[in-house]
Amino acid sequence: MIELIDVHKRLGSRQILDGMTFEVPNGLNYVLMGPSGTGKSVTLKHVIGIFRPDSGQVRVDGKDVPGMSRDELMALRKRMGYLFQNGALINWLTVFDNVALPLREHGLLPRAERGDRVAEVLELVGLSHASAQFPPDISGGMKLRAGLARALVTKPEYVLYDEPNAGLDPIISQQIHELIAEVRDTLNVTGLIVTHSRACATQCGDRIGIIKDGKIAVEGTVEEMLASEDELATAFLGEGSD
Ligand SMILES: Nc1ncnc2c1ncn2[C@@H]1O[C@H](COP(=O)(O)OP(=O)(O)OP(=O)(O)O)[C@@H](O)[C@H]1O
Ligand SMILES: [Mg+2]
Repeated sequence: MIELIDVHKRLGSRQILDGMTFEVPNGLNYVLMGPSGTGKSVTLKHVIGIFRPDSGQVRVDGKDVPGMSRDELMALRKRMGYLFQNGALINWLTVFDNVALPLREHGLLPRAERGDRVAEVLELVGLSHASAQFPPDISGGMKLRAGLARALVTKPEYVLYDEPNAGLDPIISQQIHELIAEVRDTLNVTGLIVTHSRACATQCGDRIGIIKDGKIAVEGTVEEMLASEDELATAFLGEGSD
């Protein structure tokens, strides 16, 4: 379980998180929505310990993330995949080597088995044919799928998805949503998903929380949120909001 309890974070002169509280039960996908610049990516970065809260608590499986030693943090990151906003691939490495990176970094799997594991996740995201290509030569949708393969290559228990369908056409988006739901259902991965997309939130989410003023302003199951008359819920999830 991922828990944020009353997290406050100031960056520069702005109070970005101001009492952020929510929890992600194991085996579910929790969707974070909210206007641009409200701290969604910053929130994800607290969960893997890139940022430390000024006050409040961040816990994974009951363990305090900011209190972790370097080794504990590395151990946590082995169990947690991160799909960065826009894929964040390394341009001078092939798709294959980008996806293999977390295995190398954490020394996971004997070297001889890494290739098979990378090939397996590339197939899962439909990128087998592109493994030898370099990021500047592939489309935005392919970059995102490569980022997703990289997030999944370590067989993580948790995956943080930062805008997994930004800039994708509706057909590829749909495939990504199905993949995220499948990863939850077949691999029992717990997900925290940041998205602006109603389709993404409703097709792969279980619970949805919407951020305003540095905290979750409204939250509920997908069904509750779709039925809600709350102004924010309607703005993000109402008909025609996609
Ligand atoms: N390392 C940093 N140093 C200073 N300010 C930062 C840093 N990272 C983010 N911010 C600021 O924190 C605020 C929230 O940023 P964040 O990236 O979390 O927004 P977001 O909700 O993910 O937006 P978007 O939907 O556009 O991705 C922004 O004002 C941003 O400029
Ligand atoms: Mg962001």
